[in-house]
Amino acid sequence: MIVLGIESSCDETGVGIVRWNGDGTTTLLADEVASSVDEHARYGGVVPEVASRAHLEEMVPTMRRARAAAGIDKPDAITVTIGPGLAGALLVGVAAAKAYALAWDVPLYAVNHLGGHVAVDTLEHGPMPECVALLVSGGHTHLLHVTDLAEPIVELGTTVDDAAGEAFDKVARLLGLGYPGGPVLDALAREGNPTAIAFPRGMTGPRDARYDFSFSGLKTAVARYVEKCDREGVAVPVADVAASFQEAVADVLTMKAIRACTDLGVTTLVLGGGATANSRLRSLAEERCAAKGITLRVPKPRLCTDNGVMIATLGAHVIAGGAKPSSLTVPTDPGMSV
Ligand code: KG4
Ligand code: ZN
Repeated sequence: MIVLGIESSCDETGVGIVRWNGDGTTTLLADEVASSVDEHARYGGVVPEVASRAHLEEMVPTMRRARAAAGIDKPDAITVTIGPGLAGALLVGVAAAKAYALAWDVPLYAVNHLGGHVAVDTLEHGPMPECVALLVSGGHTHLLHVTDLAEPIVELGTTVDDAAGEAFDKVARLLGLGYPGGPVLDALAREGNPTAIAFPRGMTGPRDARYDFSFSGLKTAVARYVEKCDREGVAVPVADVAASFQEAVADVLTMKAIRACTDLGVTTLVLGGGATANSRLRSLAEERCAAKGITLRVPKPRLCTDNGVMIATLGAHVIAGGAKPSSLTVPTDPGMSV
């Protein structure tokens, strides 16, 4: 079975093609992504209207490249992200998926973007056992419990305000580092002291939800710190601020992910989303997983960011699990939960 996945929930137009191997794994046949990230850079964040327009322009060429790379005329099934994501952006991918499904006379399967971030890891690391997944990007921060990729996923927690990657972007902007700020801030943090400034760890008090996150207090604490330096005429120690901020984010994310594994008796933790490129998040996750005997699975960076392969891979699991095709009138679901 050859499955083609379409992804357009944010600023990446992705078309991926995989072959289902029948043993809980897939083989990658094509992975084509066109990103509009450069167009958003001058606004300091993703502009929904700009993203939708870029999807419109890129969808057909990306599809053409993917089919050529895989050497196929048409797949056996199409899967598409219906949510969560930007409403206008999702509409482009879903409309394209319906049109191709109709034209090729192949079944269409609507899937959840978040499950794709977990499923994609099977490409590199084999069948997925029961796991906890921590998804961190510019748009989402989720802690999930996955028993089987073909079954509904349970959300354990999410952010009550900013996404983790968004917090990186906002703090980077505050420090004048440009957009997207995560990679620059990560590099700068290597030169700083992570214990120089005691920034707050949001939602870690005894009365806070066990698995939810909050990053807006941390972002405000960084802003106050920078303002204080300015007021006192002291140069902002940017590397120390970056390192201390990054330490606070990585600390909370890994602490809650490990807590979820321990509480549920789950021994596999999967990371996904663009912000998992963060070096401190990775090293702290490795350290803490090793200490607790938890297996850590992290897809390679290329597959951590949004792409069509993750949607094709999740789709293959869902189809093999016996799901019924979606109707060609299936709506988008921008606020979709898992
Ligand atoms: O998954 P992704 O490519 O797409 C969106 O969410 O749109 O994630 C991008 C996010 C951005 O917020 C970016 O700043 C963050 O991931 N990011 C990082 C790093 N690399 C990317 N955050 C922290 N450290 C990094 N090394
Ligand atoms: Zn994503």
